[in-house]
Amino acid sequence: MWPVLRLLRRGLSTAAPRGLVYEKHGEPAQVLRLKNLAIASPANYEVRVKMLAAPINPSDLNMVQGTYALLPHLPSVGGNEGVGVVAEVGHHVSSVRPGDWVIPVDAALGTWRTEGVFSEEALVRVPSDISIVGAATLSVNPCTAYRLLSDYETLRPGDSVIQNASNSSVGQAVIQLAASLGITTINVVRDRPNLQSLVERLQDLGADHVITEEQLRKPEMKDLFKNCPRPRLALNCVGGKSTTEMLRHLDYGGTMVTYGGMAKQPVTIPVSALIFKNVKLCGFWVTQWKKDRYQNREEITKMIRDLCDLIRRGKLLPPPCTEWPLEDFSQALRDAQTPFLSRKQILIM
Ligand SMILES: NC(=O)c1ccc[n+]([C@@H]2O[C@H](COP(=O)([O-])OP(=O)(O)OC[C@H]3O[C@@H](n4cnc5c(N)ncnc54)[C@H](OP(=O)(O)O)[C@@H]3O)[C@@H](O)[C@H]2O)c1
Repeated sequence: MWPVLRLLRRGLSTAAPRGLVYEKHGEPAQVLRLKNLAIASPANYEVRVKMLAAPINPSDLNMVQGTYALLPHLPSVGGNEGVGVVAEVGHHVSSVRPGDWVIPVDAALGTWRTEGVFSEEALVRVPSDISIVGAATLSVNPCTAYRLLSDYETLRPGDSVIQNASNSSVGQAVIQLAASLGITTINVVRDRPNLQSLVERLQDLGADHVITEEQLRKPEMKDLFKNCPRPRLALNCVGGKSTTEMLRHLDYGGTMVTYGGMAKQPVTIPVSALIFKNVKLCGFWVTQWKKDRYQNREEITKMIRDLCDLIRRGKLLPPPCTEWPLEDFSQALRDAQTPFLSRKQILIM
C-alpha cells in the first residue's frame, strides 16, 4: 500500500474513539473486540480524557472472564487501571484542568480505550513529571503494596516481611517500598530456567533474600533466620502449598494477609499455627479499601502523593513492561497470561 494511503487509513481509523469492548463474559482474547465508541461532550461534572496507557492486570482478565468479585454491566470496556490526559472539562469541574494527568480512583472505569468521558469524582490527578508507564501502573499494585505494609503490622526498620509471587507487580512494589523503610524482605519466587537473572533483578530493586518455593520448604531455611528476624508480616498472593510453607516461618503473633490467589488453590492453615503461634489471618482488597474512602479522600491522596514522591526520587520503579499499540491487544492478552514472563503488558493508546 502507498505510505500516504496507509497513513490516511491509520489517521481515519484512529480519529474515532476506540476501545476494547466485551458484550459477554469469556476468554478475553475471544470476547474482546476493538470497536469505535460514541463519546458525548462532558456534562457539568464530567471530564473527557484521552487515555495514554493502560496495563493488563490479572484482575482485568478475571473481570472479562466473569470470575471477579466486581462485574460491570455489559457491554463494557475492559481495563481498570491506566493514565490519561484531560482534554475537556464540564462547567462545574474544579479538581482537574485540560492538560492534567489523571488516573482512576476506583475499579471498572474501562481504561482500555483511546478516549472516554468520566465523572470528575472517578478520577484523581497525578503529576505529569513521572513516566507514563509509572503513572499508568500506579493505582492498583503500588497502592496495594503501600496498604499491605502500612495497615496490618507496625513495622520498624530492621523488621522483616515475607512474600510469595515476589516478582509480581505488587511484589516488586513491596520490595521497593520496604527497602525505602529499612524493612528486610524475604522474597519467594517460582523456579525457572533464568532464575539467576530474576534474582538479580529483584536484588537491584532492594530485595534482601530471594528464594524459590522449593528452598522455602527446606530445613536450611532456619539458617536464614540466624541473621534476619522472623517476619511479622507474610503477604500471600498465591494460595495452596506456597502459603502453608510461608506461614511456617511467620513470627509468633504475626499476620498473614492474603491479597491474591494466583495458584487458584485454597489456603490451608495448620491448626498449630493458630494455637501455638497465634498467627492472625486476613484478606485485603484495594477496591474495597478505596470504596470505603470514596467520599473522604485524604488517605487516598496522601498515598498517591507518597508514591509519586518515591517514583520521582527513583525509589519506586514500575515493573518491566512490554508496550503494545491498542490494535495489537490479542498478543498483549496472550503474553499477559504466559507464565514466567515477569513483564507487565501495557497498551499504549
Ligand atoms: N487484593 C487486592 O487488592 C489486589 C490488588 C492488586 C493485585 N492483586 C492480585 O495480586 C496478584 C498479582 O497481581 P499483579 O498485577 O502484581 O500480577 P503480575 O505482575 O501479572 O504477576 C503475576 C504473578 O503471579 C505469579 N503466578 C502466576 N501464576 C502462578 C501460579 N499458578 N502459582 C504461583 N504464582 C503464579 C507470577 O509468577 P511467575 O513469574 O512465576 O509466572 C507473577 O509473580 C493477582 O492475583 C491480582 O489479582 C490483588
